[in-house]
Amino acid sequence: MSTPAAQHAPGRAPNGGVAARAHGLTKTYGSGETAVIALDSVDVDIARGRFTAVMGPSGSGKSTLMHCLAGLDTVSAGQVWLGDTEITGLRERELTRLRRDRVGFMFQSFNLIPTLTAAENITLPMDIAGRKPDQPWLDQVIDTLGLRGRLTHRPAQLSGGQQQRVACARALASRPELIFADEPTGNLDSRAGLEVLGFLRGAVDDLGQTVVMVTHDPGAAAHSDLVLFLADGRIVDEMARPTAEAVLERMRVFPGGSPQAAGPDMVRARSGGDAVARED
Ligand SMILES: Nc1ncnc2c1ncn2[C@@H]1O[C@H](COP(=O)(O)OP(=O)(O)O)[C@@H](O)[C@H]1O
Ligand SMILES: [Mg+2]
Repeated sequence: MSTPAAQHAPGRAPNGGVAARAHGLTKTYGSGETAVIALDSVDVDIARGRFTAVMGPSGSGKSTLMHCLAGLDTVSAGQVWLGDTEITGLRERELTRLRRDRVGFMFQSFNLIPTLTAAENITLPMDIAGRKPDQPWLDQVIDTLGLRGRLTHRPAQLSGGQQQRVACARALASRPELIFADEPTGNLDSRAGLEVLGFLRGAVDDLGQTVVMVTHDPGAAAHSDLVLFLADGRIVDEMARPTAEAVLERMRVFPGGSPQAAGPDMVRARSGGDAVARED
């Protein structure tokens, strides 16, 4: 495959290629004196068929990065690709279709419709789009997520973990190229959180999905293949094959974001500069 991403960033995405890519991605909110630079010229490749975690202090730009990569938000400068498609510059109608067909999103707060059953929630985006689900795939997702016996329940009749699994199934239902999860375990107890992480891991390993997950929990990040560390709107570090201990240690090494505290083993990301501040 010859994507712009593959040409520009060899080595970052072995085998499966690049599922999403940002080049010089800048996002500012407001203008003049009160302008906030949420993302500051970020270059990143998201490897296809991998589980990538995004970590960083509150306000470092994690959600903004996800939203810009998913085409949920416009960018101020720079380019974003989803697979081969440059999404910056797409018209709203094309962008809407692309989001619907190629991206799944999971939120911290589940965002389920309370009056619909689990099954109805799972297929809602496809129902709205007038698309018939691929039934064998949907069955596989439902069984993988252990939701077979819960399909007629409404969200209030489900535990937090089950609700998030429904949200996960909804994100997977249309078999999107990329799943974004913004702190999907943030509202769950540790056991339910582990369940959801196990399913995201399974989506990558067993179903071949690509997952990008924001988390502030080193234990959650340890389920990923690669952790990207954000600070002040820039990717300042990355860690392959993370363990909870290593992620925690990395966060300890840079308290308050002092680059001088970096050890010799520090691997600088391409947009690197400052160090990673502790999650608050
Ligand atoms: N809609 C918005 N309007 C103004 N500022 C925003 C908006 N969304 C995010 N920001 C600002 O952009 C920065 C990054 O926010 P965000 O991406 O939500 O960070 P994170 O997810 O890492 O906590 C923060 O300073 C935040 O206040
Ligand atoms: Mg956020």
